[in-house]
Order: sequence, then C-alpha cells, then structure tokens
Amino acid sequence: MAILALYHLLGAVVVLSSWLSAPINANVEGDALYALRRAVKDPNNVLESWDPTLVDPCTWFHVTCDGDNRVTRLDLGNANLSGSLVAELGKLERLQYLELYMNSLMGHIPKELGGLKSLVSLDLYHNNLTGTIPSSLSRLSNLKFLRLNSNRLTGKIPRQLTKLGNLKILDVSNNDLCGTIPTLGSFAKFSEDSFKNNPRLEGPELMGFVRYDIGGSCN
Ligand SMILES: *[C@@H]1O[C@H](CO)[C@@H](O)[C@H](O)[C@H]1NC(C)=O
Ligand SMILES: *[C@@H]1O[C@H](CO)[C@@H](O)[C@H](O)[C@H]1NC(C)=O
Repeated sequence: MAILALYHLLGAVVVLSSWLSAPINANVEGDALYALRRAVKDPNNVLESWDPTLVDPCTWFHVTCDGDNRVTRLDLGNANLSGSLVAELGKLERLQYLELYMNSLMGHIPKELGGLKSLVSLDLYHNNLTGTIPSSLSRLSNLKFLRLNSNRLTGKIPRQLTKLGNLKILDVSNNDLCGTIPTLGSFAKFSEDSFKNNPRLEGPELMGFVRYDIGGSCN
C-alpha cells in the first residue's frame, strides 16, 4: 500500500517536472494568431484551419514558419476579412511578411507592431484603418516595404520613420494625414506619389522653411 502510494507520488512528480521544464508559453505565436482570428469576421472561412489546439501554427493555411517552427509570413491579402488588428501580432518576433492588404479591417494600427523586429514588409493597404501611424514602427529596422495607402489614417507622419534606413517602398497615399511631409533620411528618395491624396498634407517639408510642427492643418 505504502509502496503504491509512493509510486503514484513519483508519477505525479514526473508529470509535474516535465510540465515545468516544457518551454513556457510554447504556443505564444499560435495564441497571437488565434487572437487575430477571434477579432475578425471571416465570411470566406479562410481561417478555418487555424486550430488553437495544435502544438504550433505552422500547419495553418496562410501561415509560414521557419525551421524552428517560428512564424515568418502571414499571407491574408484579399481574404475578405473585416474586424480589427490585435496587439498580440507584435509577439511574432520572426515575422517578416505581414500581408493583410485589401480586406475591410477597421480600427487602429496597434503600436505593438513596432515589436516585429524581423519585419521586412508591412502591407495593410486598402482597408478601413483609422487613427494615426504609430511612431513605434520606426523600430522596424529591417523594414523594406511599408504600404498603408487607401485607409482612413489621420495625424502626422511620424518623423521617426525617416530613420528606417532599409525602406525601399513607402506608400501612405489616399488617407487623411496632415502636417508636412518629412524629407530627411530614407524619405529623401520617395516622390510625392508616396503621399498623394492626403488633402491636409503639406510639403515636401522645406528644411528650415516650413516648420514640421506648424505646417499642414492638423486640427
Ligand atoms: C465577402 O463577404 C461577404 C459577406 O460578408 C460576401 O457577401 C461576399 O461575397 C464576399 N466577397 C468575396 C469576394 O468573397
Ligand atoms: C470602408 O467603410 C465604408 C463605410 O463604412 C464602406 O463603404 C467601404 O466599403 C469600406 N471599405 C473597405 C475597403 O472596407
């Protein structure tokens, strides 16, 4: 009897210790993506394969992982999604391509997307996003493609974005941005096409002539 009890106790200790030594938050990335699934309407059922009980999201459709089973791509352009983005997406540390263009997404761009330190491409164009462009996006030092055009974004273009040294394509056209167009840093190479159809946007910012903080109506 005592031996049996000891045996059971030992079993419990083994189970408990293997549970404790498993990587904590093993499915952080699956949980982050599942938070997006819960926040959007998906009439075409493109997220049907997103099963949160799987050990990682690497077999889900529209999700690509690297050899370590970490998410590198989310390809959900033109997927007829509505609803909003979620802050949890900022946890996808190895995400390189966030493709959510041509949907009907509403609400703000979460500032947490500034945590996507591997991001190469942020494509949110042709949605219904509102609010401002988060200045936290200036932390995306690998970013090459930033396309936020054809939304309903307001406020100033954060000047910090000019320090994105790898940026090749910028498109914030067709929004309701205001203030002046920064011309410094990586912004020196972008033409006015990147900024067109923002009726309250003035510029390009003439260095020392139109002051960044007073040019362009932001009221
Ligand atoms: C998008 O979803 C709506 C329902 O919300 C549906 O009526 C429409 O046909 C869908 N569009 C496409 C292109 O699948
Ligand atoms: C954006 O919202 C407006 C008004 O709610 C709607 O008419 C329009 O179709 C939406 N556009 C997109 C791309 O979802």
